Amino acid sequence: MKKNIALVTGANKGIGKKISTELISKGIYVIGTSTTLQGVDKIKKTFKGHGIGVLINFLKIIETKKKIQKLIKKFKIIDIFVHNAGVIQDSILLKMHDSYWNNVININLSAIFHITKIILLPMIRQRYGRIIVLSSISGYTGQIGQTNYAASKSGLVGFSKSLALEVASKGITVNVISPGYIYTDMTKKILSLKKEEILKKIPVGRFGNTQDVAYVVSFLSSKKSSYITGQNIHVNGGMYVDFNV
Ligand SMILES: NC(=O)c1ccc[n+]([C@@H]2O[C@H](COP(=O)([O-])OP(=O)(O)OC[C@H]3O[C@@H](n4cnc5c(N)ncnc54)[C@H](OP(=O)(O)O)[C@@H]3O)[C@@H](O)[C@H]2O)c1
Repeated sequence: MKKNIALVTGANKGIGKKISTELISKGIYVIGTSTTLQGVDKIKKTFKGHGIGVLINFLKIIETKKKIQKLIKKFKIIDIFVHNAGVIQDSILLKMHDSYWNNVININLSAIFHITKIILLPMIRQRYGRIIVLSSISGYTGQIGQTNYAASKSGLVGFSKSLALEVASKGITVNVISPGYIYTDMTKKILSLKKEEILKKIPVGRFGNTQDVAYVVSFLSSKKSSYITGQNIHVNGGMYVDFNV
């Protein structure tokens, strides 16, 4: 039986790394991206032959498209696409540089548009695919200093809902995961500076870890989740409770 192939953006560290190793443990071959050669090297060491690392920087859009096209040429089909890469460049709106806005929107949001346009047709032809998108609690609640980040993460929700409707009849599901506070390089500074203050807001009483997110990706990327599409799953220890009743 053909091995499923997953593309995980931002696979060298943090949540993306754990997602990748979780998928590998399920027998999936993973193509992981990083913006640096050191990152690609880390991926190679982590994946131990069960995947590859590719150097891609979403701020270089023409190059990104060429590299994704090359991957499709080589592998024919990406069965699972996890758009995990993301950055924060925080500032209150009045002081926010144009570059902070553009970088965050381009990396977090625009990249998924360009990549999906390339990988979608082969998925449609095989009438099977899984697209999983990392949003954030900030995309739902907003956050002071994060107009750019929250806009990018809400944008991913709208993108995913619309795409889910477009491809539902083709055996492709599109779902979103919105983490709360997960301990990674992105959050370690704020989580050490404001540990007690933040913990008080989390009913489960702890910060999340990368495995908490990876388990959800694992389920959504499997055949078992075929009747779930256009949905968001919050992974936040109860910090934000969003029942649509
Ligand atoms: N940690 C949390 O609490 C939390 C909460 C909510 C949502 N999230 C979301 O979860 C995802 C992963 O977060 P994380 O905490 O694991 O972050 P992280 O440890 O900072 O990792 C970010 C990843 O994004 C990649 N990346 C950065 N700039 C890029 C660019 N220009 N082009 C392509 N890739 C780029 C990085 O690759 P290089 O290292 O190679 O540059 C890295 O692999 C993000 O989308 C984040 O917004 C995280």
